[in-house]
Amino acid sequence: MSAPAAERGQWSSQIGFILAAAGSAVGLGNIWRFPYSAGESGGGAFVLLYLVCVLALGLPVMLLEISLGRATQKNPVGAIRAVRPNGPWKLLGYLAIATGLGILSFYAVIAGQVVAACVDFTQRIFTGRELFHSFGPTASIFFFALFTLLTVLVVAGGVQRGIERWAKILMPMLLVMMLAIIVRGLLLPGAGEGVAWLLRPDPSKITFEVVLEAMSQAFFSLSLGMGAMLTYGSYLSKKQNVLHCGGWVVFFDTLIAILAGLMIFPAVFALGQEPNAGPDLIFRVLPAVFGEMVGGTAVGAVFFFLLAVAALTSTVSLLEVVAAYFIDERGWSRTATVWAAGAVTVLVGLPSALSWVSADKEFFGWMDLLWVNLSLPFGALMLCLFATFVWGLRKASDEITSSSPEFRWMAPTWRFFVRVVCPIFIALILLTRFVPVDRLLRLLGGGT
Ligand code: PHE
Repeated sequence: MSAPAAERGQWSSQIGFILAAAGSAVGLGNIWRFPYSAGESGGGAFVLLYLVCVLALGLPVMLLEISLGRATQKNPVGAIRAVRPNGPWKLLGYLAIATGLGILSFYAVIAGQVVAACVDFTQRIFTGRELFHSFGPTASIFFFALFTLLTVLVVAGGVQRGIERWAKILMPMLLVMMLAIIVRGLLLPGAGEGVAWLLRPDPSKITFEVVLEAMSQAFFSLSLGMGAMLTYGSYLSKKQNVLHCGGWVVFFDTLIAILAGLMIFPAVFALGQEPNAGPDLIFRVLPAVFGEMVGGTAVGAVFFFLLAVAALTSTVSLLEVVAAYFIDERGWSRTATVWAAGAVTVLVGLPSALSWVSADKEFFGWMDLLWVNLSLPFGALMLCLFATFVWGLRKASDEITSSSPEFRWMAPTWRFFVRVVCPIFIALILLTRFVPVDRLLRLLGGGT
């Protein structure tokens, strides 16, 4: 049984939705993953591909997810069932739920490390000493479980009280802190090289792997491909403008990613570090930058606190997808659902927490590959096919136009992207992961 709309909760205003959705989008994806991906994938060329993916694939899928959520006012499984009650399509909904838990299980590990960094800097303000000489397995598990607990507590509070309130106050503060850190980094001698490395594309760096990474990063950063935006869209009222909402979220998210790049790479080059240090890039570079700042310890404490909050508004959306399903479709209470999901997350995430502190981070890498590089693009691809062949793109664009009349003239282009551009590109890029590229080209060319 579905819960009646009144019990599901709605955003108090359009700005409430934008902040909450931007809160979901902006997080470790922008500040932790974007720089390390760019660092491993060659800088400027990656950034350029990323921007292309955001505009050509991210924006269309964003509008699609929000509109399907708002049209059906349901969680991912419910939304698909509302359009097509029987048949295999609902598996796509279940995949979304599984992906939500899968991402949460390793994302909260990094978020835990962020909290630990915040605690560490705070302690240094008072004692002048470092708390963690090394961040070992026990600390990793402890902070991971702690962060999952925080997420559970916020989601238990429900959509408006829990999610909206946080996003409204702390997101703007994060932006201000980032700007301050960027300015400090840019003033370091040799910083210009990092700016050039980040913004000047070197075409020789473009490989199929880099393209797949740029696309996955775009979906991950925009919280697309696993029903988070769909679920948030389902709490949007019929009066609120889907086009503006989606557009602002994409804009904010991209802005923060680029700013994160500017925060990290000038410092990387100025301080003689390596851009391709891998997943712990920011944890190596930022403390070094704070070390160069007046009052750097306090800046570090505040920055990592705000980053932890940004991560929390993202983990909240991951858990909310899972919660919405059990509440709407299974009639579970919100409290029971979030505690159970939190417990499952901690269990599933244990290997990731252990792997994060190991030398090669192998298991962690597998999780990232499975959920971010494969599941999100696949989810986005299937959603485009679902909208094209089952829901009907006409209905989808009418849903958007009903509250955004200016969308009328963009609708044909949007439908073309959802029907043709997104599926073809996502499918081809995903295929490059499994089929060697020269074979793929031969198959496409019809040769042998
Ligand atoms: N977009 C979030 C970030 O950048 C991560 C996320 C992915 C959240 C998918 C929800 C769904 O940190």
